[in-house]
Amino acid sequence: MSTRKIIIDTDPGQDDAVAILLALASPEEIDVLGITAVAGNVPLSLTEKNARKICELAGKPDVKVFAGCKGPMNGTLVTAEHVHGDNGLNGPDMPEPTMPLQDQDAIDFIIDTLRSEPAGTVTLCPLGPLTNIATAFEKAPDIVEKVQEIVLMGGAYFEVGNVTPAAEFNIYVDPKAADIVFKSGVGIVVMPLDVTHKALTTKPRVDAFRALGTETGIATAEMLDFFERYDVEKYGSKGAPLHDPCVIAYLINPELFSGRHINVEIETTSPLTMGMTVADWWGITDRPANAMFMGDLDADGFFDLLTERLGRL
Ligand code: RIB
Ligand code: CA
Repeated sequence: MSTRKIIIDTDPGQDDAVAILLALASPEEIDVLGITAVAGNVPLSLTEKNARKICELAGKPDVKVFAGCKGPMNGTLVTAEHVHGDNGLNGPDMPEPTMPLQDQDAIDFIIDTLRSEPAGTVTLCPLGPLTNIATAFEKAPDIVEKVQEIVLMGGAYFEVGNVTPAAEFNIYVDPKAADIVFKSGVGIVVMPLDVTHKALTTKPRVDAFRALGTETGIATAEMLDFFERYDVEKYGSKGAPLHDPCVIAYLINPELFSGRHINVEIETTSPLTMGMTVADWWGITDRPANAMFMGDLDADGFFDLLTERLGRL
């Protein structure tokens, strides 16, 4: 397998943190060109800092981290401190980062990278609201055709919404941005709640991270101990859905996942269903397929991969 060049766009968040750790632990498969922070789970001032904390936890202080948009393209920012805690990485005590935030704006980094790398060789991996990606596409339409693929966490269909009855958080925060991305014509792989809700952080799985005995393994377990309390109470499940690492695991071993190539469109007007991903799973319409919408995964294989890779840091 050749190394895939990626930009991780993220709103850390504990699950984003595990996704970043997985990517940084997998240099044979993944070359992280940069990490772009976006407002989402917590405000941008925290997501950019949290991204740097995670890079330092991974022992990778040379990774370039950029700050992007402070809020959605339309409307006001909705955050999720009730899930992720007041600083977005609640759980372990993590020191303030010493590695620098890049001076360049994240949007310009995305544009410049796609213009300078050979066309079709850079994959975008959004793990939060799609504001940075859509803003870059609007500012520089020429870059759209240069994107190799977008592999994102967001949306829901059979699993329904987690922030409203109809909408998943990443899409709900910025429906306009999601609509731009899903209509861009770029090939998209979607990790919706339909699949992430099958990747539960059960006690044996979290204990396997802790048993690594490393700073990364213990911090990961502590992050997930905090992160899972909200979903366990809400759903009565045996753990929390580990959403964002599904994106990175797909890049390493796509065989872990299964889904359908279907049409997915975004609700951008109805107050009742704002941010819903309307997934034509049964091919009822003649709307063209624009997304590989995942519905299932090998959960044990996913967590085995995660544990093995985190053990490398
Ligand atoms: O709905 C889950 C998504 O919203 C995840 O990406 C989580 O980190 C939050 O951003
Ligand atoms: Ca996220």
